[in-house]
Parts: sequence; structure tokens; C-alpha cells
Amino acid sequence: MHKITMLGTGLIGLFYTMSIHGNRSRDQVKVIYSRSEERGSKFAQEWNIPRYTTDLKAAIEDPETDTVVVGLPNNLHEEACTLAAQAGKAVLCTKPLARTGAEAKRILDVCEKAGVFHGYLEDLVYTPKTLKALNSVANGALGKVLWARSRETHPGPHSSWFWDKEMSGGGAIIDLGCHCVEIARNFIGKDLRPVEVMCWADTQVHPIDAEDHSIGLVKYANGAIGQFEVSWTFRGGMDLRDEVSGTEGTIWLNHWLRTGYEMFTAVGEGGYVAEKAESDKGWLFPVGDEVGGLGYTEMFNDMFNSMDANKKPREDFYDGYVVNCILDACFKSAASKQWEPIELEWRGSEDAGKEAFMTEFDADHFLIKEEKMPDGRTKYILKEKAGGKVVQKVVEA
Ligand SMILES: NC(=O)c1ccc[n+]([C@@H]2O[C@H](COP(=O)([O-])OP(=O)(O)OC[C@H]3O[C@@H](n4cnc5c(N)ncnc54)[C@H](O)[C@@H]3O)[C@@H](O)[C@H]2O)c1
Repeated sequence: MHKITMLGTGLIGLFYTMSIHGNRSRDQVKVIYSRSEERGSKFAQEWNIPRYTTDLKAAIEDPETDTVVVGLPNNLHEEACTLAAQAGKAVLCTKPLARTGAEAKRILDVCEKAGVFHGYLEDLVYTPKTLKALNSVANGALGKVLWARSRETHPGPHSSWFWDKEMSGGGAIIDLGCHCVEIARNFIGKDLRPVEVMCWADTQVHPIDAEDHSIGLVKYANGAIGQFEVSWTFRGGMDLRDEVSGTEGTIWLNHWLRTGYEMFTAVGEGGYVAEKAESDKGWLFPVGDEVGGLGYTEMFNDMFNSMDANKKPREDFYDGYVVNCILDACFKSAASKQWEPIELEWRGSEDAGKEAFMTEFDADHFLIKEEKMPDGRTKYILKEKAGGKVVQKVVEA
């Protein structure tokens, strides 16, 4: 059993506590930190948490707890993770790990130096659909992954600090791009070096300094492309979708809107429907199990199981650091309008893994493509080995 200090009683502190205290869990939140005494006391009562405090350091250093979960605004992650590492506790931090690659590196360093367990709480790589899809990719069902496209768009976040560039580190790129970049990295291969990025970003709607819409391409050493599409201007709820294309197959995932639960109500039922839903009337897309569907349940299973087995979880602070370095390059590219290199201390493979795809057709040709035509004929598009000319061979039905 792990005894937990939970930092934050906002949206994520609530989802995390729901997940940890769900399913008669053995792991329990024993201390809750909130800026507000009133909110802390109410939260502690609702979730049967024995202690609450408005003192961040005291919450982290509580003698009963062994794990600190950081669910605070982005500008407070470094302070909280540092205090937790210094207290010798396991530290689990929400996304993004930090506001910049440099800040993320300091967080990684302080935890590695202290020798404490660190887990990066990137829930969206733990959704049941994503875990199953990652398994299919690992089993070779898609061949070599060439393109992983990930989208998270909604009408904008729920608290003022997200919109303050100093506190958050940026807009939709930092808040949502961090998810999409890590989803694509998981599908393409975490051992493959992300090399450079091309990114467009703009502030289309909201009166803020940060970007509220962005699209980016992340190029990997083997030529694969991660594509992210993020927006705080999208209307219609929260759109979470991924597409993965490989040499042998394709996966499409839809995590939130139109997942198979569609409901119409003319009158509503007076409450919450799903995260970032814009209406509680008309056609609605409720979600049966939000904490499961968003990956929180499997994420905490992995974190605590890994802690018990003394091994690294699927996502740790090195992953959070890589994501921040990719996002740093995105900001540079959005400003320069050029491909920008990703600067990071790389620990993965140096092998580019780039191979040419040459399928043998016969002694004189490589096969480019085969297609069955509506009239029953089969067409083979071929490349001559000598000279490289492209030709076609037609086989009658
Ligand atoms: N899917 C996800 O993994 C996910 C989803 C939402 C948020 N997050 C992350 O969780 C962290 C917190 O986000 P949230 O949505 O819970 O935010 P929130 O605004 O709902 O809650 C923030 C919490 O931090 C506390 N806090 C302490 N000092 C604060 C300060 N100076 N200003 C504002 N709040 C302060 C607040 O009291 C509150 O308990 C962020 O890093 C965010 O990116 C992750």
C-alpha cells in the first residue's frame, strides 16, 4: 500500500483522487494540499482523506506518506518535485513536466540525484484503446510506423493560470501538444531520436499572449513523422483522436466524441456531461467511465506496480524532458517559420533505422503497387531494376 500526498484540489487533483480511491484501491491519499483552507477541508471530507493543509512543504514532508503526486499549475512543478525529491519520496508529476526543456532537465536531475522513483503522468498513452493499439504496433500489425497523427482540441482551459504565459509556459502547444507529442512518440518508437520540427502557431480567437491554435510536424531519425493538431478554439467539446499509419496497416482511435455512446435530450438533466462538454442539452456524447477512458486508472496501476517491482514505469521524467525539448523547438519553428532542430541530451538509440522498401516482383522488377480493378483485371506497377523506369503489367481476370 502506498500512502500519498496529493498536491492540488483542482480538476486533475480530483481526477487523480477519483482514480486512486476507485475500485477499492489499496493505495490511499493521506494528505491533501490546497491553497484554500475551505476547499482543502471540503475535498478531504468528500474523499475520506485524514489531513489537509495549505502548507506545500508540510504536505510534501508529511511523515506518513511515501509518494507525492503533483497536480499544480505548471510553474509550481519544479518547486514541488524538488521538495519531494529532497524528502526522499517517490514523485509523480502531471503533464507537462515543465514549461521548458531546461526546467524539465533540472527536475529530472534533482530526482535522479536523489535516487527517487519518478513517473510522468501522461494519461493519454494509458487509455484502454491506446494500450491495445500500442500492443498491436509492438506485435508488428502495422509494420513500420510512418505517420502518427494526434489531435486534442477543445474550447480552452478552465482556470486563469493556463491563460497566463508566465505561469503556464505557453498556450495550446504546452497544454495539449505535450499529450499529442508523447502519443506519437509511443507509436513511432521511444527509442528513436526526434530530430527536427516544423510548427505553425497563432492566436486566432482569445485576447492572450500565448498561441490558441497550432499544428506541428516532428520528424524522427528513421524518417517517420509525428503530427500534432491542438486548439483552444475548437467548438463542440473535447476532440481526442489519433491515427497511426504503417507499411502494413492503419489504426484510427476516437477517445471522446462519438465513442459509441450518443444521447439526445431536449431538457437535460441538470449537470456535468463529460470533460469540456459545451452543452447539457441536444445531442450529447457522455463517457461511461471517464477516469478509465482518459487513462488515469491504468496509469496509476503502472506507476504503483512499477514502484513495487523496482522498475521504471512506461513514462518517467526523461520522457517528460524529451517532450519539453520537442515543444521548445516548436516555439522556435513557429517564430522562424523554418524546420528547427530538437536540442536534447539523447539517451536512446543512435541508429537511424532508415531502410529502403524494395519488394521483389521478379528477376527484373521491384513491385511498387498491386491493385484489383473494377473490371476484374489486376494491375502491377513495377520499377525496372536496370534503369529505374516505372512500368505496369496487367493480368486479365
Ligand atoms: N490530462 C491531464 O493529465 C491533465 C488534465 C488537466 C490538467 N493537468 C495538469 O494538472 C496541473 C493542474 O491543472 P488543473 O487542471 O488541476 O488546474 P486547476 O486550476 O483546476 O487546479 C489547480 C490547483 O493548484 C492549486 N494552486 C496552488 N497554487 C496555485 C496558484 N498559484 N495558482 C493557481 N492554482 C494554484 C489550486 O488551488 C488548485 O488546487 C497542470 O500542470 C495541468 O497541465 C493534466
